[in-house]
Amino acid sequence: MASRRELLNLGVASGVLAATGGLAALFRETRPPAAYAAAPATGAAPSPAVPPFSVPLTVPPTLRPVRRSARADYYEVAMRPGRAGILPGRHTDVLTYDGGFPGPTIRARSGRTVVVRQRNLLREPVSVHLHGAATAEADDGSPMNTIAPGASRTYTYANEQSNATLWMHDHAHHLEAEHLYRGLSSLYLLTDRTEERLALPAGRYDIPLMLRDARFDENGQLVYDMDDAAGRDTILVNGRPWPRLAVQARKYRFRLVNTSNMRIFVLGLADGGEIVVVGGDGGLLAQPVAAPVLVLSPGERLDVVIDFSRYAAGTQVVLTNYVGPGPMDRVGQIMRFDVGERAPDRSAVPATLATLAAPAAPTVRRDVELRMDEPGAGVGAYVNGKSFDPARIDTEIRWGTTEEWTVRNANVTIPHNFHMHLVRFRIVERDGAPVPPVESGWKDTVLLWPGETVKLVATFDSYRGVFPYHCHMVDHSAMGMMAQMRIS
Ligand code: C2O
Ligand code: CU
Ligand code: CU
Repeated sequence: MASRRELLNLGVASGVLAATGGLAALFRETRPPAAYAAAPATGAAPSPAVPPFSVPLTVPPTLRPVRRSARADYYEVAMRPGRAGILPGRHTDVLTYDGGFPGPTIRARSGRTVVVRQRNLLREPVSVHLHGAATAEADDGSPMNTIAPGASRTYTYANEQSNATLWMHDHAHHLEAEHLYRGLSSLYLLTDRTEERLALPAGRYDIPLMLRDARFDENGQLVYDMDDAAGRDTILVNGRPWPRLAVQARKYRFRLVNTSNMRIFVLGLADGGEIVVVGGDGGLLAQPVAAPVLVLSPGERLDVVIDFSRYAAGTQVVLTNYVGPGPMDRVGQIMRFDVGERAPDRSAVPATLATLAAPAAPTVRRDVELRMDEPGAGVGAYVNGKSFDPARIDTEIRWGTTEEWTVRNANVTIPHNFHMHLVRFRIVERDGAPVPPVESGWKDTVLLWPGETVKLVATFDSYRGVFPYHCHMVDHSAMGMMAQMRIS
C-alpha cells in the first residue's frame, strides 16, 4: 500500500482523496505501483508548451460508404501521409487513414457486413487490425499479413457480435508501434438493437474521446523513441492537446478509448464527481457502475455517462489523470468540460443495460507469463519466456473449446496488459479476488499492474486460424511480447 506522500507524488490531489472515500478506496480501484508512476523522465527537452484547455475538442467525422448493398456497406480508405494542426502555430507530419488525425469513424450495425478497401499510399508496409472484432484470419490485420506500399487489400467484417466500441489501428510487424504513434488509428462504432432500445444519451450527446500521449520537438514534429513512456508529455484527445468541450447541463455519453502506445490513464473528475460506467471493451455492461476513478490501459475502452446537470452554469470541470510517468503538471490533466445552461434531457441510464450470461465453464487451463527485462537488464520482452516468432505457433486450441487462461505479470516495476485477437473474454478473477464490476463485461484487453494475476475465460467458437495475443503496450509487443494461437 502506498503512503499518502507517494500518492501525492503521483499527483493525486487531496480533494479527490476526500471525495473518493480516501486512499484505501482509491487504491483498491487503481493500484498503480509507485515505481511505475515515478519512472524518471528521459531527460529529453519537454514538448512545446500549450496553454491547457485553449483549443476546442473536435470529433472525427463519420466515414461515408462508397456503396451500399442489401447486406453490406462498402468503404474505401487511403492510408497516406498528412499534416495535422495539433500544436498551435505548428504543423505536424502524421500518418493517416484518409487524412485524419485520428482517422474517420466507421459506424456499423450488428448483422450487417462492412467491407473496407484499404489503399497503402505510405512508404512502409501496413496491416489494418480491427481491435475487438471477431474476423476471419485473412481479415484480422495480423502482423505478417501486410499491405505493401502501393498495394491495397479488402477487409471484410461480418459484425456478428453485439454493440461495442472497436478500434482500427496498424499492426505491421515491428512497425505497429511507430505507425500507431504517428497516427494510424480510428474508431469503429458497432451498434445493435439492444443498445438502440436504451435511452442512453445519443447523437451529439454521445462523444468519442480517443486519449493518447505524444512527444513533440520544437518544430512540432512527433518524436518516436521506443519505450519512451515518460517523455510523451503532451495529452491529446481526438488529436487535440488538452482540449475543452462546451457541454450543456445534462447527461452525456463518452466513449473513452486509450489509443496510447504505453500510457495507462487513471481518470477522474477533479471535483471527485461521479462517472457512471455503462460499457467496456466488448459492449454494454449488465448494470451501470458508478466509479470515482477509471483505469484505462492501452487498447481498453470504457463507455461512460456524466451528468452535468449537477453543476451550475459556468462551472469548469477538469478530467484529471492521477498517474504518471511524466511531468504531472502536463500529463496530470486531460481536458476540461465547460458547463453551460440546463438543457432538456430525456436520456436515462437504466438499471439493466444488457443481459450477460455467466462465463462458460472451461475445460482447458493454461498459464501465460508476461515479462520484460527490468530496466538496465536488457531489452527483451517475452510471453512464457519467448519473444515473438511469426513462424512459431505457441498455443494449439481445439475449435469450440472454452479455456481459462491465468495471465501473470512477472515484472516488479513494469505494468503490462493482455490482449487477445478474435475472442472476447470474461475476467473471472483479479489477483485472487472476484472481478471488479467495471471489468465484469466482455473484455478483450486487461491491465496487469506489476505482480498481478488475472484469470480470464474465452470460448473459441467463431473462426479457425492463427491469431496473435500480446501485451498491448505496443512498444512492448513490438519488442517481442506477442505470441500466436491456432484454433483448429
Ligand atoms: Cu489492438 Cu493486436 O491489437
Ligand atoms: Cu486486437
Ligand atoms: Cu507490456
